Amino acid sequence: MGINSVDGDASGASGLSGELSYQAGAEALAALSLCCVECGATYGGFEPKARYRCDCGGVLDIETTFQLPHAKRASTLAPLARRESDVMPLAGAPWRQLFDERASAAPIWPLSPDTLLPDRSGVWRYRELILPVPTEAIVSRPEGNTGLYPVGLENCSASRIGHRQIGTFTGLERLFLKHEGENPTGSFKDRGMTAGVTVARLRGARAVACASTGNTSASLASYAAQAGMQGIVFLPAGQISGGKLAQSLAYGATTVQIAGDFDAAMQLVEQVCNELGVYLLNSLNPFRVEGQKAIGLEILQQLDWQAPDWLVLPAGNLGNTSAIGKAFRQAYQLGLIQHLPRIASIQASGANPFYRSYQQGWAHRERVHAQTIASAIKIGDPVSYERARRIIEESHGLVAEVTDEEILAAKAVIDRSGIGCEPASAASIAGAKKLVADGTIKRDERVVAILTGHMLKDSTTGIPQGISGQAIEPTFDAVRKALKL
Ligand code: F0G
Repeated sequence: MGINSVDGDASGASGLSGELSYQAGAEALAALSLCCVECGATYGGFEPKARYRCDCGGVLDIETTFQLPHAKRASTLAPLARRESDVMPLAGAPWRQLFDERASAAPIWPLSPDTLLPDRSGVWRYRELILPVPTEAIVSRPEGNTGLYPVGLENCSASRIGHRQIGTFTGLERLFLKHEGENPTGSFKDRGMTAGVTVARLRGARAVACASTGNTSASLASYAAQAGMQGIVFLPAGQISGGKLAQSLAYGATTVQIAGDFDAAMQLVEQVCNELGVYLLNSLNPFRVEGQKAIGLEILQQLDWQAPDWLVLPAGNLGNTSAIGKAFRQAYQLGLIQHLPRIASIQASGANPFYRSYQQGWAHRERVHAQTIASAIKIGDPVSYERARRIIEESHGLVAEVTDEEILAAKAVIDRSGIGCEPASAASIAGAKKLVADGTIKRDERVVAILTGHMLKDSTTGIPQGISGQAIEPTFDAVRKALKL
């Protein structure tokens, strides 16, 4: 394959305009602590050899304090367990104002990308809560700014009558769909990838890699190309959609198909990265999780900082559950929102290790041989298990499972509403419907469900065949007959 790149030799390879930018970025990252979620050991954020796990094998989480620009000291993080009456609504006001001002920036970033683009990005707009890197170091398309569609029975206006079918399907009055398929490469992965590739650039990495069920690889391939790095993606052969494979190839990533499943590819890429010095960009990488937090922050901002009661999302490798839950927790601790939303992670019943562990009160970490039509979440041994378990516990959330039939039924409704999504995304709506039906989610609660990927990511699974499937004679009569009009 000819990979001769190394991670850690930052000085010459980063391509950053000045030595100063590099140094400032490296210092900012070095000041962060990587904390093991299993044993609590801490490591520096910028060790010469990239570190993805604790010595005990646990995954790492970034711990830091947050500081408003020009503030003399860091904001205090309030304890999580507090009564509503203890909440000081004003504490988050300067943060809300900062983010709201940035969100209203004019769309003229191409004139001066290094300074104007971060405010236009739905990730870097929140940069003080994401990663404290110099703005000129940022590798961004930009991403984010995705739609939040009001689709419930009560909050969907008459001009959106088609969208209201989703409210009818779930039984929810105030439902919002956050469509992360509207990101540059068509999935939520771009949010973590902009952070991960920015760190890779600061480290001077020349090659970056991931294992993927298709979306992470498409995103990595695009951002690596933008940053002038070699992208290397490990895919479970024959198990990802054609559209996603096409993206990786077209963006120019070195695409390695493994005769095994995602979990095997994941183990392999970790070994390759550790031994060959390629920079790993799966959500095992804690910097990616920080970028993905922006989904949660953007939802809160679009709801004018009124937190929803529930956040429902599809769950596979559990990076997203971990990231969005962390964003909500930090927003709550900083006083940006006044209560913590409950997180409902939804798994496919044939790829449900997290659900199985939850059912047993977390007594065992389960692993399964995954099988589901929703190839994006066909994962049997999720890497972020421990991070996500904590999120479910602290948010008083839950884990549920839905069958492939329920996923396809939900996808059909989302597609026909005019919004559309890829199969795995529909697990969130299938899950919401189930949780409303059994009374767990009340019909009048405010719910946000995430659609993680674009409809065109998988153009075959669950797409009906109609008259468009067969050619007819090019005559008026033949058309009238075909349309039955
Ligand atoms: N939905 C889609 C469309 C995905 O691509 C993924 C994950 C998920 C949901 C689950 O998110 O892993 O954070 O729990 N896709 C990864 C990939 C595994 O390689 O693209 P998660």
